[in-house]
Amino acid sequence: MYKITEKKVLNKDIDFMTIDAPLVAKNAKPGHFIILRVDEDGERIPLTIADIKGDQVDIIYQKMGYSTQLLGTKEKGDTISDFVGPLGQAAHIKDKKHVVGVAGGVGAAPILPQLRAYKEQGTKVTLILGARNKDYLILKDTFESLCDKVIYTTDDGSYGEKGLVTAPLEDILKTDDTIDHVIAIGPVIMMKFVAKMATAHKRSVDVSLNPIMIDGTGMCGNCRVEIGGKTYFACIDGPDFPGEAVDYDGLMKRQNYYKDKEHECYMRLDNHGS
Ligand code: NAD
Ligand code: FES
Repeated sequence: MYKITEKKVLNKDIDFMTIDAPLVAKNAKPGHFIILRVDEDGERIPLTIADIKGDQVDIIYQKMGYSTQLLGTKEKGDTISDFVGPLGQAAHIKDKKHVVGVAGGVGAAPILPQLRAYKEQGTKVTLILGARNKDYLILKDTFESLCDKVIYTTDDGSYGEKGLVTAPLEDILKTDDTIDHVIAIGPVIMMKFVAKMATAHKRSVDVSLNPIMIDGTGMCGNCRVEIGGKTYFACIDGPDFPGEAVDYDGLMKRQNYYKDKEHECYMRLDNHGS
């Protein structure tokens, strides 16, 4: 059993949680993920690690379906049954002068350890953090103390620039020729357009892919992604990949396979709670 040592509600959809998991913490590097189960019969939930503090592992999750909503009912002092990791490949921290991170919504969580690793090796770090409104801009204080510059966007204009993350990205790629690399983590549609823009402006780009995962060990094949005509498994080859040649449309199609089931899961939790 794994103890929850901290829990914060970041907004109505997103929670922060710290889990006491010394072996995971000891071996984790930026880009690694874990798979947890709330209880013995639970669904496996894959989550990229947001931070490590000693023996403790931070995760940030969006309450999108039955299992993440169930996790959201747990509080500090409670336990969860499984917390397995680190899984996947650590992100490749490259020798770069100035990296721009582009994070959409809850994608801010997995980008944090990567930006920290860049900062620690002396790379200048700019972050564009976008969300639907100001309540969904998470980890603002953490990023402000870590990054050289943070640019905010909200879809509704309630904080920072009104619009999508790609508007300020285009501006800085045009005007700042010190930028030599972009990292995008967020909705697939955002990563698609960020990768396209970075490539058009001749900058390299990495993305973190989040297909639906089942076993997380390369056995089921469910997390396959197409990159440059080749098939990769996000759970063992990723989740971070060069973003230039990813088949984003195919990934979006595969992510939608279980949408009707997600709806049923919501109904199940609603009924469970009443
Ligand atoms: P969201 O739909 O609210 O979008 C967040 C931001 O992304 C928007 O504010 C906007 O700036 C940008 N964006 C959206 N559509 C865009 C487009 N067409 N062009 C350019 N920019 C666009 O995000 P959310 O509801 O917080 O969802 C987060 C998503 O991130 C989920 O789909 C989740 O699965 C995904 N995610 C991915 C990873 C990963 O490792 N890749 C990790 C965590 C979450
Ligand atoms: Fe099964 Fe990756 S989740 S192969």
